Order: sequence, then C-alpha cells, then structure tokens
Amino acid sequence: MVSTLKAQLSRYLKRAYVPYSHHPEAALVLLSDGYWIPGVRVENASFSLTIPALQNALTTAVALGRRDVVAVLLSEPLDLSMQALLEGFQDGLFSSRFSMENDQFLMATSCSKLPTPQGELSPFWAKQISDATAGIQEARQVAARAHAPVSLFPVGCLLQLEAGWCIPGVNVEHPDWTRTLCAERNAIGTALSYGYNSDQWRALYLSCVRDVARTTPCGACRQVLVEHSPELQIWQDRQLVPEMLSAASLLPGFFVLQ
Ligand code: THU
Repeated sequence: MVSTLKAQLSRYLKRAYVPYSHHPEAALVLLSDGYWIPGVRVENASFSLTIPALQNALTTAVALGRRDVVAVLLSEPLDLSMQALLEGFQDGLFSSRFSMENDQFLMATSCSKLPTPQGELSPFWAKQISDATAGIQEARQVAARAHAPVSLFPVGCLLQLEAGWCIPGVNVEHPDWTRTLCAERNAIGTALSYGYNSDQWRALYLSCVRDVARTTPCGACRQVLVEHSPELQIWQDRQLVPEMLSAASLLPGFFVLQ
C-alpha cells in the first residue's frame, strides 16, 4: 500500500518548481477515504517565499475543504523545520494528530489502519464561472474554508484555468506567523502540484471577505504571481464591480532572475 503511494511521489517530483536549487521535493497527503493530495516544492527568486512541498500539500487540503488527513508521505527525510511546521498545525486544524513512523514516512496516529489508496483528489471548485462577478461571488464562498485563527481575516480566491475550471485557495495561518500562507499562493501551489503550469492560467478572482473594498494581493503574492504569470488577470473584490489589474501592473519594475 505504501509502495503505491511511494510510486506516486516519484511522479510528483517532476512537477516541483525548483529553477534555483534544482532539488525537487514532493509530499503527499492521504485522506481518510483513501484519496490523496500532492504537494511540490515551489521556489521563488525572493527565496524566503519558497513553499515547501509539505506546506503546499497541507494547505491544499485545507483549500479543498479536507481536514481529515491521516498520513503524510515525504520525498525527503523530515527535518527540524518541517517538524516545526507540522507541530504548529496540531492544534485544531487537522482532525488527526501526527506521529513519526520513520524518517521518510510520517503517519497520523488516530487512524490505526490506513485506508486503501483510491486516487488523486480533484483540485477543482465544483461550480464553473461565467464572468468576473460570478468569479468574485464564488471566491467569497471559498473563503469559508480559510484557517485564520490569528488574524481572523479569511481570504478566498479561485485560479481559473484556460479550460474554465477553477482551483481554490485560502489563507492558512500558522502559530509561527512566518509560515502562514496566503490564499493566492495556496492556489498557485495547488495548480503546480496538479501539473497545471502558468501557461494554462487564465484569471484569478480574489476576495478579502472582511474588507472587500480593499481586496488586493499582498506584496509577497505579487512577487510569486509575476514570477509565473505577469499578464495574469487579477480580479479584486470591490463589493459591486470587481476591479481587474494584471499581475505585472500590481508590481511595477518587478525583479526576476533570468
Ligand atoms: N492574506 C491573503 O491570504 N492574501 C492576501 O493577499 C492578503 C493577506 C491573508 C494572510 C493572513 O492570513 C491574513 O490575510 C492577514 O495578513
């Protein structure tokens, strides 16, 4: 059973976005019904914005409305930094507590017998989006999945693919604030983990539901957005008529490493 999942991990390694270190990493989160969620490492020219594979997989689970994580598999031995990441998520985010089985595979304890692997969980939001207003309406719904116990400021977004389907993203806060992930980067991490690269992205709909009129991507998200897709249409919630700006126009003179 574990060998089935291990084989998947090596498949996901190819999706890691690691143009700087050239060192791919992948993680896989197993849910209580046997479906799994991949997560790959997503590096950034602004190095500290790099999303580790484990954080990517766990935050995707939250955005997909699944907190019933029963096991986590990693392509790399769990280091102290990733242990700290997991420990921070022990209080109230996931339904299981995690315990280390060995240094490669980390298993949750509350599930003594692991479910039979069923397949990759679909990353898509159930509803299709017809226009920007509908995109914002749905992004507001996505925000209900956010985990924001620190700021009490839930954010939701939908990254729409050229094919029309949308990938949701929510902010996932961590007691160590530096490990908090925004909704936009959550959606980007999910898209890449599922093999949808930026040439397949059409638009992003964003809503800061507590303060819709001031919805806008933070500086860190702008940097990550331009690295992948400077021309991406970013639709921002404005209560009535959403406002669109390209990722590049949100970050004039942005830095990229050629
Ligand atoms: N946040 C986002 O999710 N996206 C943004 O672009 C703005 C900020 C989240 C991160 C954190 O959980 C909370 O909002 C306050 O910064």
